[in-house]
Amino acid sequence: MDAIEAINRRQGVLHYRPEPVEQEKIHTVLQAAISAPSPLNLQPWSYLVVTDPRMTGQLGQYLRRVQAELLYGGLLGLPQEYTDRMLGHYSQLERVPCFILACLEPKAHFAAEADQANLRDWYLLSIGAAMENLMVAATALGLGTRWFTGFALDEEGQALKRLFGIPEGVDVIAITTLGYHDEPPKARPEQELAALMGLQRGDGEGLARLFAGRLPLSAVLHENHW
Ligand SMILES: Cc1cc2nc3c(=O)[nH]c(=O)nc-3n(C[C@H](O)[C@H](O)[C@H](O)COP(=O)(O)O)c2cc1C
Repeated sequence: MDAIEAINRRQGVLHYRPEPVEQEKIHTVLQAAISAPSPLNLQPWSYLVVTDPRMTGQLGQYLRRVQAELLYGGLLGLPQEYTDRMLGHYSQLERVPCFILACLEPKAHFAAEADQANLRDWYLLSIGAAMENLMVAATALGLGTRWFTGFALDEEGQALKRLFGIPEGVDVIAITTLGYHDEPPKARPEQELAALMGLQRGDGEGLARLFAGRLPLSAVLHENHW
């Protein structure tokens, strides 16, 4: 699979087969992650790979809970009935064979105090780039991924830091599942811009429609002048 195909085929996967992911493939996707660009080449990341079934089970359960309580119920304000329906999709998270936590670990500290917030934003962008590299590489290897960041709503990931012994000064920014799956990539119908613009907090059906589609390039592209 070439790079363009892998980029276009990547989609979030929630249902995995139980077989473990080969060490070599885990290494390959991590190598792709650390090939991402970062400001001044500061490489502000570190990664935690979780494959011990006791830990993957706990992590899967935790992600499902925060998804329900803080993301669907809290931030999005969805009715319970809708949250329950959505959670059906997350019911197998405890059985995911591998999770990768992408952490922000600033290694150099030479920015002026006033620039710390800017630098952190740039670090976050770098981790986003690293995550995309990782997910695309996984797709090319026939593996599925799903990005999670909803846990940040739970005291910015403090529970995860305790669970995995992550030190002070290191923050968990994003988590992805990694594993084999039987889900063929779903073709995404084109969306109307209005589906997004009109979306209101608490609108479960609107959100479901949003998840199902993709805006056409023409809706987000400007040429030469906005
Ligand atoms: C910053 C970020 C945070 C995300 N957080 C979550 C999350 O907490 N739970 C979840 O199920 N999906 C999460 N996602 C995945 C998105 O919901 C998903 O990428 C989006 O619906 C598009 O679907 P696709 O990945 O299949 O193309 C996150 C994605 C990004 C980029």
